[in-house]
Amino acid sequence: MKSSDDLHANRPRIAVTGGAGFIGSHTAVALYESGYAPVIIDDFRNSAAGVIGKIEGLIGAKLECYAVDCGDIASLSQLFAAPLHGAIHFAADKSVGDSVAEPEQYFANNLGSMAHWIRAMRSHGVAHLVFSSSCTVYGEPDSLPVDEQAPLQEATSPYGYTKQAGEQLLRYAHAASHAADKTTPGSGMGAALLRYFNPIGAHPSAAIGELPLGTPSNLVPFLTQAAAGLRDELVVFGNDYPTADGTCVRDYLHVCDLAEAHVAALQHLEKNPGDFDVFNLGSGSGHSVLDVIRTFEAATGVAVPHRIGPRRPGDVISVYAAAQKAADILGWQTKRSLHVALADAWRWQQQVG
Ligand code: WQD
Repeated sequence: MKSSDDLHANRPRIAVTGGAGFIGSHTAVALYESGYAPVIIDDFRNSAAGVIGKIEGLIGAKLECYAVDCGDIASLSQLFAAPLHGAIHFAADKSVGDSVAEPEQYFANNLGSMAHWIRAMRSHGVAHLVFSSSCTVYGEPDSLPVDEQAPLQEATSPYGYTKQAGEQLLRYAHAASHAADKTTPGSGMGAALLRYFNPIGAHPSAAIGELPLGTPSNLVPFLTQAAAGLRDELVVFGNDYPTADGTCVRDYLHVCDLAEAHVAALQHLEKNPGDFDVFNLGSGSGHSVLDVIRTFEAATGVAVPHRIGPRRPGDVISVYAAAQKAADILGWQTKRSLHVALADAWRWQQQVG
């Protein structure tokens, strides 16, 4: 096992807030595989500390890690003791339903901690920021596939609002950094805002994956738990929508594809210092809930006990990405199919139990 010094030798340090989470952990692996030194900042409120060891096992090196809230800047003096080449901000609460019940928590974490973090990034001269946004900002799009120029509908949840506001915060911070005196640390920073569609699946090793704490609200972790017999059945939230089979349509992408998109976004900012841009990260194809169930059963040979239930309030009927901009500018597009993503999700479910 390489020492922490080995890990950082000649590797640009990239701060990864929420780096023990589902997407953050997979991105930490992708960063290391691309020659960077991921530095994890995670208070483990929505993730498990054991994930750090799993990432280390995959990369074969020790990680620099800070078990604090990314907004607790006073506790991060050691992090800033050496230069940071860039930062990827994942840390946020992400449950639509929980955000309706706990709006104050969502504003405090998804906006308050983020504002402290961005301020610290600028004051320490971090040049490249990548932000974890979401297709939730689009709400129910007027036309499909939805592209980055689509108007942002009024947020349908506090969670969606904090993602829209987080994007706006970065727009203002980017403008302020370019208005500042060029000798000011952090002047001219660059930012890439990544609007994820629906990330699913797990690392093919099954060492890391989606660890929902408590009852999963998202489709795929609930589906795999039902297939494993941990849940009586999956309830399909409505089949009376104006779609081909009556169930909602989403753009599902493999979490490893998504992780690789973050590396591509960072490399784009390195080549275009000071840039500011927004990218959809999706496959460009929509699949219904019943499509996902059928594809899972074909990929694994395992039946999913399920029934049709009532609609879930706030669900968007159909949303999938116009994915061309990320291909044209980042040189990124999804490589892994829905079939592969669901097979990897099942392998992870069998491992995590
Ligand atoms: C997908 C489809 C449900 C569970 C949310 C956030 C989004 C992103 C991903 C963070 C919908 C149906 C689900 C179930 C079901 N999170 N479903 N039975 O709502 O598209 O997006 O998670 O970035 O920002 O909004 O994802 O997985 O919850 O639902 O029928 O038990 O599966 O109705 O059609 P969603 P989801």
